[in-house]
Amino acid sequence: MGEPIGLAVIGCGTIGRIRAELARETIAVGWLGLCDIDRDYAERLAKDTRADFVTTDVHELLGRPEVTAVIIATAENEHVEPIIAAAERGHALFIEKPLASDPVESARVLQVIESNGVDAVVGYTQRFRRRFQAVKQRLRDRQVGDVTTVVTRAFMNRMVPLATLAKTADRSRLTPMVVSGTHSLDMSMWLMEGKTPVEVYARSVESALAELGTKDGTFGVFTMDDGCIFSMNINWALPTVWPGSVYGLEIGIVGTDGVIDIEDTHRDVVLASHTPQPAGYTSKGFGPDAPRHVDFMTSYPPGDVSGGLLWGPMREETLTWYNRLTTGLTTPHATAADGHSNLLLTMAMDLSARTGKPVPLPVEPKELL
Ligand SMILES: NC(=O)c1ccc[n+]([C@@H]2O[C@H](COP(=O)([O-])OP(=O)(O)OC[C@H]3O[C@@H](n4cnc5c(N)ncnc54)[C@H](O)[C@@H]3O)[C@@H](O)[C@H]2O)c1
Repeated sequence: MGEPIGLAVIGCGTIGRIRAELARETIAVGWLGLCDIDRDYAERLAKDTRADFVTTDVHELLGRPEVTAVIIATAENEHVEPIIAAAERGHALFIEKPLASDPVESARVLQVIESNGVDAVVGYTQRFRRRFQAVKQRLRDRQVGDVTTVVTRAFMNRMVPLATLAKTADRSRLTPMVVSGTHSLDMSMWLMEGKTPVEVYARSVESALAELGTKDGTFGVFTMDDGCIFSMNINWALPTVWPGSVYGLEIGIVGTDGVIDIEDTHRDVVLASHTPQPAGYTSKGFGPDAPRHVDFMTSYPPGDVSGGLLWGPMREETLTWYNRLTTGLTTPHATAADGHSNLLLTMAMDLSARTGKPVPLPVEPKELL
């Protein structure tokens, strides 16, 4: 057993708040420091979590002698600087995806993490769902034989792009695959562990969300080194009145001896009410433009608040990471290398859709620009 963690949380928005609140539920975290460039956000979270230290200056927080581990929960385009500053100090890292929104920067981030020997994980939260852990074990046990085809379909409420893109003018790389499809892609690649993609061919549609500066959806087919084909499909332009508050997923895995068909669209617990339902993703004060009266109740990916506590995969993921740091537990968190690879694969889909041609893999980060 190691010493209690001295935890720095950088970014005190929706996700930083959840992870900081969970830090106060465990004795694994002995000291908590917070940073956000928005002083009001930082101070409100500091009050709610009785934080030991709060600042608007990342370097001031990382310079504190108590810090041993860092959570990077800043907005998508703002990950690089705090990751590099923390890695150069040798702190363990928990990074919200993506490592960077620029593939060349992502490669640099990975290089700094690896050269400093830092234990860095990336927040692919859905790995911590019981159903996906159970599927993973059946695949490890070869219960479907050799996997030959995988089909993944992600349907997302457009509240996610509306809320995410409102935060930045730099939207060019915030595509459905890079921001959100990365979760379904990570899940699929993790379930297909051991297979290496050798080519991807994709097509995108830009219509309902074109005014926002993003695409509606991207469908692609990966070919793996053993001939397996993987069809990865996302549309994040479903209307705000769609009952799924964030996402619904289907994954079908067919092998030589069997099949696993995963229905994860959250239609098993449905609420209908005269009272409008809260938006799923409420980042930075976002509010939906139309009321939702039907709700697929467990479709908010981090989990659901009940009795003042969050229940769901982000609890499992965060507390398991605190245990990993204090006990040395081996955990299923995605590594920084997984995060970098996922970014390149999502961007390779966007490149193929842009050029209309298949993209041979692996691809150099600079080819994706
Ligand atoms: N794991 C998951 O399931 C999941 C779910 C949603 C979002 N995310 C990811 O989590 C990250 C944060 O998303 P969010 O919804 O909490 O966003 P948010 O906008 O609610 O919070 C981000 C915070 O970072 C702050 N910030 C921005 N630049 C900063 C900087 N340079 N230094 C310090 N603070 C800075 C902002 O002021 C803001 O308060 C994103 O990368 C997002 O993709 C992960």
